[in-house]
Amino acid sequence: MKGIILAGGSGTRLYPITEGISKQLMPIYDKPMIFYPLSTLMMAGIQDILIITTPQDQEGFVRLLGDGSKFGVNFSYVVQPSPDGLAQAFLLGEDFIGQEPCAMVLGDNLYFGNDFDNYLLAAKENALQEYAVNFGYAVKDPERFGIMELDRNQNIISVEEKPKHPKSKYAITGLYFYPDDVVTKAKLVKPSQRGELEITTLNDLYLQEGRLKAQILGDGFTWFDTGTPDSQLEAANMIKTIQSNKGIVICAPEIIGYQNGWLSKNELLERGELLRKNDYGKCLIKMANE
Ligand code: DAU
Repeated sequence: MKGIILAGGSGTRLYPITEGISKQLMPIYDKPMIFYPLSTLMMAGIQDILIITTPQDQEGFVRLLGDGSKFGVNFSYVVQPSPDGLAQAFLLGEDFIGQEPCAMVLGDNLYFGNDFDNYLLAAKENALQEYAVNFGYAVKDPERFGIMELDRNQNIISVEEKPKHPKSKYAITGLYFYPDDVVTKAKLVKPSQRGELEITTLNDLYLQEGRLKAQILGDGFTWFDTGTPDSQLEAANMIKTIQSNKGIVICAPEIIGYQNGWLSKNELLERGELLRKNDYGKCLIKMANE
């Protein structure tokens, strides 16, 4: 299974900061924002990952992430010339995806909570069985998101992009699993009124065929779209609290790579030595020595 991190976009909600730096390279507490969605794909056991960026920011991502070997994964890169919509990722990624199922995560989405690895494995299994999967999360401002309407058995009845009158409080979060026909389906998506290839239109194509499933992220689970200064601060505070309380580093791709057997003890130790001046590096060293 392949994975895509969509890390382009105009970042205008974060001006003036994003006049000089890509949003997804900004920090959320002690690590770059993109480490969080990266750790999500890695937790799903996905090793081949395509990073989609703006043309002007690609260099920064390559400098930060390289070929992926420091995390035990393989990165490919492609640029999105202009932000023409989330579903365009599958057109840009056509050669990379080939005939495989593919997951996509938005570069500013942060997931943390119990059972997440089981949710991810279930979604992967569904994608292999020819179903697409959307992750739903109850929000207080549903008009700001793609929304899924559910029946009492949590089957999706409808999906709508930023509806004025939302039919439910469940946002479709920025993590999507698709079967091996996602490129063919993405080619059927027509631009919306705002001129974008909407991910919600792609999801609707699967829904119309009875092939769209919901995975609800329940109470106790945290999801952030870290696209505003307030949500970045909230997310950073949450990460700091969890890490300080537990004395660990969460969403560190090196640790997930090690746990998945993609990085050796020595490779983890080497990486830890490089970062040893802070708690992030110390945690990697501790982990390698356990
Ligand atoms: O965060 C979840 C929401 O993400 C979903 O509920 C919506 O259905 C989905 O459309 C999207 O809504 P947003 O309003 O958050 O989309 P935005 O245009 O802000 O783009 C989301 C991220 O994707 C953002 O970090 C920038 C990046 N992006 C966006 C577009 C349109 C790209 O890399 N390329 C693009 O063409």
